[in-house]
Amino acid sequence: MTLNHVDRTMTNIKLLRKEDIFTQDPKPWHSNYLSMYSSVLGGVVKDPLLMTIPIDDHMVHRGDGVFEVIKCKEGKIYQLDNHLERLKKSAASIFLALPKCWKDIKIIINQTIRYGEERNCLIRLFISRGPGGFTIDPLECPESQLYVVTTKIPSYAEKTKKGVSIITSSVPIKPSYFANIKSCNYLPNVLMKREAIAASVDYSIALDERGFLAEGSTESIGIVSKDLILKFPKFDRVLRGITLSRVYDLAYDLVRKGTLNEVLFCDIKKEEAYDSREIILLGTTFDILPVIQFDGHKIGNGTPGKVYKGLRTLLDKDLRCNDQLLTPVWDD
Ligand SMILES: Cc1ncc(COP(=O)(O)O)c(C=O)c1O
Repeated sequence: MTLNHVDRTMTNIKLLRKEDIFTQDPKPWHSNYLSMYSSVLGGVVKDPLLMTIPIDDHMVHRGDGVFEVIKCKEGKIYQLDNHLERLKKSAASIFLALPKCWKDIKIIINQTIRYGEERNCLIRLFISRGPGGFTIDPLECPESQLYVVTTKIPSYAEKTKKGVSIITSSVPIKPSYFANIKSCNYLPNVLMKREAIAASVDYSIALDERGFLAEGSTESIGIVSKDLILKFPKFDRVLRGITLSRVYDLAYDLVRKGTLNEVLFCDIKKEEAYDSREIILLGTTFDILPVIQFDGHKIGNGTPGKVYKGLRTLLDKDLRCNDQLLTPVWDD
């Protein structure tokens, strides 16, 4: 490469100043962003161009951080304490100290939602190893950091009404220890989502090493067997889903009514799932979705089933009026 060539290249790439960056046009996806708290910035921003994380935060270049996704529905946060508890466990599993501002975590979440001015939103919490340099050594980062982002909730109306299709994933499942940590190392999950889209289905489901159902990229799974037993994979190989745990308790209502015979955690072969009455997916963003096709096999009669509908009704009620699980954001 001649010096001339370098000079010419240099003239093509602008040296940017602050004002060049923060005056750029918004991107289309920014319209879903509401607010962000950053302990690095020391406050909340609403302009998506200001929603930044330092590149030397180890969460960026090493995935060294943990996260949670929580939902605020009609101005009330659902299962906040359970999500905070899981976040704390994830952090402890990777020897990540809670950030200094953790003592005010509930106030920070509350204020970030209020600044976002939206009563229905998703709240993403990230605890990062923090800025400190570019090596892999976590000890080069003096302080962990907290980021809280609120965004609009995507619509699941179509999927809820029609049901979704799933395939078996070819992406190797995470070892048990890592599957149980909600870390910012989600590359296998990303690849699972990519493979679902490539196969023109909605979700892909990982099997464990013994061939039993595990979970989706960001979804828990359950089946209703021929003999009306609601079965979930055991938590030892998958993330301890907060939606699943709640649905497990709520499902006893359907047992009392005779819609189900039993609810249990057990190993589930995919062939049993193909032949099941119903399959459901569970997760904070959409609550519950009915599966109507698995690896091309029609599930039940190919439409959302009775157990799905019963659980959807129970969850909807829980999200509206279970005062023990709801944290109001506004005083009204
Ligand atoms: C791997 C994985 N499994 C299951 C879930 C569903 O968990 P929850 O109901 O707590 O949202 C998630 C949530 O993002 C996830 O990342």
